[in-house]
Amino acid sequence: MLQFVLLLVVAAAASKNCSFYFDGHPYSRTAILSIKGLPTNLVYNPANQDLLFTLIDLETLQDDNIQTKMDQYILREGNTIKIDNVRGQASAVDMKRNKVYIASDDGLNELNSTDKANFVGLKDDDIVQLYKPRHGDELYAVLFPENAVYIIDIEKNEKRKVEYIPCAFYLGVDDKDNIFYECDSKYVKVLLKGFQEPIEFVGIAKNSGKAIAVDGIGRVILAATDGLYHLRPDNVIPNKLMELDFYPSGIAFNEEDNRIYLSTNDVIYRYNPCFPFIL
Ligand SMILES: *[C@@H]1O[C@H](CO)[C@@H](O)[C@H](O)[C@H]1NC(C)=O
Repeated sequence: MLQFVLLLVVAAAASKNCSFYFDGHPYSRTAILSIKGLPTNLVYNPANQDLLFTLIDLETLQDDNIQTKMDQYILREGNTIKIDNVRGQASAVDMKRNKVYIASDDGLNELNSTDKANFVGLKDDDIVQLYKPRHGDELYAVLFPENAVYIIDIEKNEKRKVEYIPCAFYLGVDDKDNIFYECDSKYVKVLLKGFQEPIEFVGIAKNSGKAIAVDGIGRVILAATDGLYHLRPDNVIPNKLMELDFYPSGIAFNEEDNRIYLSTNDVIYRYNPCFPFIL
């Protein structure tokens, strides 16, 4: 009986081309979107299955004389929707309040039911990154040009600066409020809650970190140019969970069914686990 089951499992794996491995589990890969540009800041909304992303125009990114052009999009049921009434730069999903926030170069916005951005606060702030942990009410933001991290109280329309992080590019926050971030597009670090000195992770090549997301079981995952790493608050050596054959620009997890979204130039991939996990 066991052999029969194993045979079925192997047959299923072969038919779906389960040749990708994340943390030892086989995954299949599908390109779910082809689009000109660099999709970054992937954020998955479990309430409606939307995948939000920022699309960077690569030609303007490479030209130092002009401001990089970027637009905020929603990928919904295979179609892209551009949030066209704001200069969107990042997004975050607040599951507790059932809201989607859009960061812009002139404050914080909320997505309304017709997929438009409605201003909520922080006028004049150039918000380049957002992160909303699943727990708690706080929203984390990176403000340009200081590249400092702020914690935003949405109800009070107030922000308070997180000390000791002068250089963040993108970030992720775990369930203990430890802040994982990339500094000066070189080093990947963590500021443990209650501490003053950030800790640098070792073994990751300079400039190779590209994005951070938290997976369904609360692990902080770094997407780097050579693969996905588990960043832990209690170990400076990250654990590699997946090899990649492209340079990632964004990462998100669908925690309900353990799917992984990864983007690179002109494409967004979805990785599906080939079998239900037996934990
Ligand atoms: C959403 O926001 C847009 C732009 O502000 C507005 O025109 C539209 O009426 C809003 N839709 C709803 C349903 O509130």
